[in-house]
Amino acid sequence: MGIQFKDVSYAYRGYKVNYDAIGHITLDIKPKGEFIAVVGHTGSGKSTLVQHMNALLLPSKGNVVIFGQNLPPKKNEKINYLRQKVGLVFQFPEYQLFEETILKDIMFGPKNFKSTEAEAIEKAKRAASVVGIDETLYEQSPFRISGGQMRRVAVAGILAMEPEILVLDEPTRGLDPKGRKDLMAIFEEIHEKEDKTIVMITHDMDLVAAYAKRVIVLDNGRLVFDGPKEKLFEHPQFEAFHLDLPTPLKILKHLEKEVGLTYKPHYDYHSLLSYLKEVHHE
Ligand SMILES: Nc1ncnc2c1ncn2[C@@H]1O[C@H](COP(=O)(O)OP(=O)(O)OP(=O)(O)O)[C@@H](O)[C@H]1O
Ligand SMILES: [Mg+2]
Repeated sequence: MGIQFKDVSYAYRGYKVNYDAIGHITLDIKPKGEFIAVVGHTGSGKSTLVQHMNALLLPSKGNVVIFGQNLPPKKNEKINYLRQKVGLVFQFPEYQLFEETILKDIMFGPKNFKSTEAEAIEKAKRAASVVGIDETLYEQSPFRISGGQMRRVAVAGILAMEPEILVLDEPTRGLDPKGRKDLMAIFEEIHEKEDKTIVMITHDMDLVAAYAKRVIVLDNGRLVFDGPKEKLFEHPQFEAFHLDLPTPLKILKHLEKEVGLTYKPHYDYHSLLSYLKEVHHE
């Protein structure tokens, strides 16, 4: 099950003629255990790609299969339920908060998908606690909290629908370092505790290095790489992907070039640090 893309292309209507925002994409996402980063320069088609994962966009050509449901759907086939199975958190989701209280905002999704009022409250409270929204905030307006908290409320609104796969479009964009770290810790915990598949768009290669297992690279709407992150960073054509290297790797390369010190490549701070301690017997 999970999500399959079979030679998928998508063109926005009325945009440039014959211009595919994504073209000929084939990929397979497992329903459990994956942590996938989607990267690529601005306008490369990342948001377009992930909006196919919960049927918000339907392919112009090719097919997407989401938990066995083939898309585009046959006439009269209902696909709305897919939005519950695959929860999509938009770029700047806090702009979509609209209810008068935080709890009501988080309850909106479950209510929309036929939970009773009592069930919706229970699901909303559970989701709020996962993202660290305190009970004392339940009755407050979602517009009177900090940007970081608003982001958490928006994420809780998606989690409350209890999706099987979580898709995040630049979830940390615009957050300060602490906000970024806290939010990533939440996603990591969801991924680890519940073995949930997470698909995350990001421009931050340090986040890719620290959290992702698999990376999908888009370039001009085409899938140019799909594989383990280690393979990406050591790819002979890495420069052709127009991506930044993770900072620890940059530092190591710098040490080699400028100081003549050669170390084994490490991508994230944590493993680099333990490796350096080991080499230097500390
Ligand atoms: N609603 C739309 N109508 C017409 N064209 C669009 C629309 N949304 C995106 N596009 C075009 O489709 C292409 C892919 O855009 P998309 O938003 O998927 O890129 P992205 O990789 O998410 O970029 P970013 O990193 O800036 O968020 C771009 O050329 C963009 O201009
Ligand atoms: Mg985008």
